[in-house]
Amino acid sequence: MPLVHKAVIAGNWKMHMTCAEAQAFAQAFLPLVAHLPTDREVVLAPPFTAIAILSEALAGSGVAISAQNVHWEEKGAYTGMISAPMLLEHGVTHAIVGHSEPRKYYSETDEQINLRARSAQAHDLIPIVCVGESLDQREASETERVIHRQVEQGLEGLDPCRLIVAYEPIWAIGTGKTCAASEANRICGLIRGWVGHPEVIVQYGGSVSPATIDDLMVQSDIDGVLVGGASLDPLSFGRIANYQAPVQA
Ligand code: PGA
Repeated sequence: MPLVHKAVIAGNWKMHMTCAEAQAFAQAFLPLVAHLPTDREVVLAPPFTAIAILSEALAGSGVAISAQNVHWEEKGAYTGMISAPMLLEHGVTHAIVGHSEPRKYYSETDEQINLRARSAQAHDLIPIVCVGESLDQREASETERVIHRQVEQGLEGLDPCRLIVAYEPIWAIGTGKTCAASEANRICGLIRGWVGHPEVIVQYGGSVSPATIDDLMVQSDIDGVLVGGASLDPLSFGRIANYQAPVQA
């Protein structure tokens, strides 16, 4: 399917990077993406504490900022949570929701993920909704059923034109085992079909690296990537952002 929108290359820093480290990253990274081909955009998802300083460091660069989560209420007695208006104040444009880590460690449900994604869209944030199967589910041939349920329940009522879905097989996250590009493409195509809108942006995530990015990005149904570990190093994320093109510093 020819892309009608830009590819989205997103870096998820997880619980990494102090403010000082985020600033140093920006200084090293920005020259590497100053001449990016115009068919793509780059998004960085720092921890909440580094959002303000990174937002200043990236101002005018075209690199966007995502939160790593967002609560569905605007304010209230939700200790430890961050709402969409709090993120908007710092120029945040995207919010990751439904990542397999909060699904696993904090028992996030598809219903909560849907509330988060709806709140994001209601406040003009683009939700990056993660879906994906575990190794056990894959081995039990449940991959399609699990992801179909995550798509059906997690994306209910969302505007597909302001949405990114990230296919992240859990067994490929942080393991160095990238899903074969053709298989990632097959699942991304299924997700596009289930969403029912050809323009939805579908990313692949799970051990994406400079060595695998080019193969992934030639696939017909992969519109971008969500990168964890390899986004922590400016040189490697710079190379990923410049996929199929030389880095021009
Ligand atoms: P990884 O993480 O690239 O380190 O596998 C991806 C993710 O969790 O989004």
